Amino acid sequence: MKKNIKTLSGQIALVTGANSGIGKAVAIALAEAGAKVVVNYVANEHAAEEVLKIIRDKGGEAVALHADVSNEKQVQAMFAQLFKLYGTIDILINNAGLQRDAKFWEMSLEDWEFVLRVNLTGQFLCAREAVKEFLRRGLRPEVSKACGKIICMSSVHEIIPWAGHVNYAASKGGVRLMMQTMSQELAPYKIRVNSVGPGAIKTPINESVWSTPSAEQELLKLIPYKRVGEPDDIGKAVVWLASDDSDYVNGATLFVDGGMTLYPGFATGG
Ligand code: BGC
Repeated sequence: MKKNIKTLSGQIALVTGANSGIGKAVAIALAEAGAKVVVNYVANEHAAEEVLKIIRDKGGEAVALHADVSNEKQVQAMFAQLFKLYGTIDILINNAGLQRDAKFWEMSLEDWEFVLRVNLTGQFLCAREAVKEFLRRGLRPEVSKACGKIICMSSVHEIIPWAGHVNYAASKGGVRLMMQTMSQELAPYKIRVNSVGPGAIKTPINESVWSTPSAEQELLKLIPYKRVGEPDDIGKAVVWLASDDSDYVNGATLFVDGGMTLYPGFATGG
C-alpha cells in the first residue's frame, strides 16, 4: 500500500516572481503537492499576499519575501531570511522574467540590459545561492532522492527566434545553456537542473495576443494543439520536474507548448 504522503511533503521551495502569471500557478501547485513555499515578489506586495491566501485556504504553507532577483545583495538577503524561516531549501523555481519589446534597431541599451539582468543574471544569482546551500547541507533522503532541484523557467524562445524581442530571446537562449551547463557540473552532486519551456500561456505578459477573439485566432495558427495554455499547465509540469518521479531527468527542457516548437508552418507548407 502507498502511504498517503504528498509528493513534495517536507520540502521547501522558493518561486521567484510568484505573485502573478506562471509563478503564481507554480507556487500554488507546489503547495498543493505538499511543499512549503516562499513566494518571491519585487513589486505589488498585495498580489503576493493574495497568493499566500489562496495557498493557506487550501491548507498549504507559504510566506512572501521581497527581492529584486537581479540585485545580488537583495537575493542574498532573501536567502538569509528564507534560511531563518525554514532552515534550508530543496527546490528553486527560477521563474521571474519579463519582456521589454522593441524593433531591433530601436532597442535601447537600457531595455537590452534590463531584460538580460532579470531573466538571465537573476536566474544565475538565485541558483548560485541555492546550490551553495544544497552542497553545504547534503542529501536529505527522507524528503528526496536528489540533493536539490532547480527548475529554470525558460520559453519556446530558447530555440525559436523572435523578431521584435531580441533581448528576450537572447535571455532565454542564455537560460538554455546556463541550465545545461549547471546540470552537467552539478549532477555528480545529485543536484538536478532542468527547464520548463512554456509556449503561449494566458498570463499578463502576453495578454494582447489572447484577450481578443481575433488575436487569439492568429495565435492559434502557431499552436498545433489549438488551445492557448493555462498557467496550471505549467504548474503541473513543474511539480513533476521537482519530484522524485523525474529523478533521472537532468539538463532537459520540457516544452509545455501545445506543439508550438513543431514548426507549425510546415503542417501545410514546405
Ligand atoms: C512569451 C509570451 C509568448 C510565448 C509564445 C513566451 O515566452 O513571454 O509573450 O506569447 O512565449 O510566443
